[in-house]
Amino acid sequence: MRIGIFGGTFNPVHLGHIWTARHVREELSLDKLFMVVAADPPHKPDPARLAANIRFRMLEGALEHENGISASDVEIKREGKSYTVDTVDFFKRQIRGAEIYLIVGADMLESFPNWRDPEGILRTAKILAVGRPGHEPELCSLADGIMSRFGGEVTVSSFRGPDISSTEVRRRMFEAEPVDTLVAMNTEHFLYENALYMPDDIVLIRNSIGEVIRKKRLRHTMLTCCEAVKLAKRYGADMKKARLAALLHDCIKLPNKELLDYCERNGIFITAEEEQNPYLIHSRLGAVLAMEKYGVTDPEVLSAISCHTIGRVGMSLMDKIIYVADKIEPSRDFDGVDDIRDVAYSDINRAMLLVMRHSADYTKRSGRAVNPSTQSVIDYLNGLTDKDPEENNG
Ligand SMILES: [Fe+2]
Ligand SMILES: [Fe+2]
Repeated sequence: MRIGIFGGTFNPVHLGHIWTARHVREELSLDKLFMVVAADPPHKPDPARLAANIRFRMLEGALEHENGISASDVEIKREGKSYTVDTVDFFKRQIRGAEIYLIVGADMLESFPNWRDPEGILRTAKILAVGRPGHEPELCSLADGIMSRFGGEVTVSSFRGPDISSTEVRRRMFEAEPVDTLVAMNTEHFLYENALYMPDDIVLIRNSIGEVIRKKRLRHTMLTCCEAVKLAKRYGADMKKARLAALLHDCIKLPNKELLDYCERNGIFITAEEEQNPYLIHSRLGAVLAMEKYGVTDPEVLSAISCHTIGRVGMSLMDKIIYVADKIEPSRDFDGVDDIRDVAYSDINRAMLLVMRHSADYTKRSGRAVNPSTQSVIDYLNGLTDKDPEENNG
């Protein structure tokens, strides 16, 4: 049995970790590779680090479909400082007779002489060091130095991991920039669903909305933020505004009866169209709440919230981004949604039109008449999509 141990804080796990794991598993012909979440690493103190169990859940999700690689919570269960020597001993005892490899990054190898009991680690495990672009100077001489001082076997992998860092993932989450090229898809969704590494004001709004709307709706809201940020990046719109508008777009999305009761209690006027289709109220009311309860004053954000149900003639780019993000976010699963997803990143007007036609068809099939304002938006979009998409997108 050949076993690999690849430890780290994984705050959060990113594609660089996963590609490294896949590569070293092949390189060392490992039967099993355990990625071990460091609960409280003695050489990397950081009071702001995410709780270990959250980092572990993210890692577990990211490895869901990986062959022969799994997440280990052995250091979390052990509690106290996470010493590697205890971890390699644990695996040695668990899997008798196993040949054990410890996978470490270049920066970790530099600090290795300061770890607890380096000789003990090297008596139990062989070390494979993996460099990262810009972090690979003198890895081989470092390895030689460790072997002559502590004994054992230290080799350097032929693999140079990609230049991806958890620091960059955290920065982008904070700044409302997409992270889909840095992390696995389910990590991306987890980060959004749980509002991780986002600014405090965004987290506060998310938690406050979570007290009003259902859990499933909150998940949809956060995944809409994820999609909106990517669409905003694609079309050169303001990503922070897109995140804020997406976050608030359904802030008062309640069942119809509760919406009507809310309006009655608060003396809010309801139009004839809204009376027939009470769900329409939540977009107009959402914009009012965004302003009054959450202090949003930006007209671009407020407009995107207020027109996300039926659109409007002359919609702005931000209006369209929120409208489309709301309908194609990853948890949406209706007939034709993948066709719209295909179009959304090349022609936002066409994607808008497909969504509006889809809902108009649904209305007709349900035996109801398409309301005149929806039809006028469809006609308006038809006019736009007749033109060259590059002229209109943006
Ligand atoms: Fe909505
Ligand atoms: Fe929505």
